[in-house]
Amino acid sequence: MSDRVSVLIGAQWGDEGKGRVVDVLAKDADVVVRFQGGANAGHTVVVEGKKHVFHILPSGMLYPGKTCVIGNGLVVDPEQLRNEMEELDPKPEAIGVKLLISYSAHIVMPYHKKLDALAEHARSASGAGPIGTTGRGIGPCYVDKYSRIGIRAEDLVSPKVLEKKLRANVEEKNQILEKIYGAPKLDFNELYELATRWGEFMAPYLGDSTLEIDGAVTSGKSVLFEGAQGTLLDVDHGTYPFVTSSSCVSGGASIGGALGPGRFSRVIGVVKAYCTRVGEGPFPTEDRGVMGDRLRENGAEFGATTGRPRRCGWLDLVALNYAVKVNGIDSIALTKLDVLSGIGNLKVCDAYEINGKKYAAFPNSATIIENARPLYREMPAWDADISGCRRFEDLPEEARGYVRFIEDSASVKVSLIGVGPDREDTILRGF
Ligand code: IMP
Repeated sequence: MSDRVSVLIGAQWGDEGKGRVVDVLAKDADVVVRFQGGANAGHTVVVEGKKHVFHILPSGMLYPGKTCVIGNGLVVDPEQLRNEMEELDPKPEAIGVKLLISYSAHIVMPYHKKLDALAEHARSASGAGPIGTTGRGIGPCYVDKYSRIGIRAEDLVSPKVLEKKLRANVEEKNQILEKIYGAPKLDFNELYELATRWGEFMAPYLGDSTLEIDGAVTSGKSVLFEGAQGTLLDVDHGTYPFVTSSSCVSGGASIGGALGPGRFSRVIGVVKAYCTRVGEGPFPTEDRGVMGDRLRENGAEFGATTGRPRRCGWLDLVALNYAVKVNGIDSIALTKLDVLSGIGNLKVCDAYEINGKKYAAFPNSATIIENARPLYREMPAWDADISGCRRFEDLPEEARGYVRFIEDSASVKVSLIGVGPDREDTILRGF
């Protein structure tokens, strides 16, 4: 199978450890493209013990000579972007990294964050219950995109267009803020000045990502599309309404990365050896007891974006098999296998019981999945520290059995195994 144009996506509820897998694969890629989401993501890469967290920048920014693209499908928070650029070490210029931001990416404005917080508060107060968003303005920004009133990156450098669009947005948002939420009004001039300053800072990076990506693929370069969040947070295929507002599945790479579906070579699904979720919503294998706490502690399961403790539980093969189908996953990158060392009483879920009926396939229905009770299979556990293992054969027999069981259940090869946080703590089995 050709590996020139790869899509890498999260196969669970996000936080699968995509950043470190992208980082490993980026080594051989010429171009790394982010295609959806925004600063709600938090991709962690550890290089020589130093932790780097990317929220909006593609995770390839640390490799010399790469082109990193923020695709048209993103919602960009310029403030966050600037902070991340400032914190980057080494600097892109110093290592020949080119950053390209699509003209058509949408801009997260301060009022999107305000509306995100107000809507969450209103949902909590109304009894509908919050979604548990990251508060980064993601939903409201995508709402404006699909309402066709959003401000795009290119608008920041076109004063007349910016003025016209922003004025209309401020008028509309002021009605909403005042009449629905009783909140203070926005000041047009303040926002216009801010957006203009953002435009000045972003101008050198703006460009046509469609042309860039097409050119790279046509000339035989290796391109890696980096997904954010995960399949079960996808706006169509996730546990709606407890999802994010973008298409996190592999198909999203075609839309948000501007490349026809037939031009992709392979889909890599990142799967954590157990499951976690942040925010509200169904999570059939969640363990609210001692084991959940142990997984959280062993796996340092606290949000890279919000610092929230993640909900933890066993690996869910029903959900994984669904992700394999929805994304067309060709190979699995299994992360954090080391966290299960010494955990004791290892279990995986291979079916649900819902209202007295057994389900082997994931039901994409909000009302059905809400009542899912996991049916578990006990797995042989291991105690040895596996962080030093660099070959599959080095792993204890039980750990190899765990990996093989996943492969058999999903009918997909596990091509990479993460055994520790560092770039080097990886077993490669041939992608
Ligand atoms: P939003 O994307 O901020 O609107 O949040 C919607 C839901 O997606 C919430 O449950 C968030 O916790 C979740 N979410 C958003 N981004 C991530 C992520 O990068 N990892 C895990 N969960 C996320």
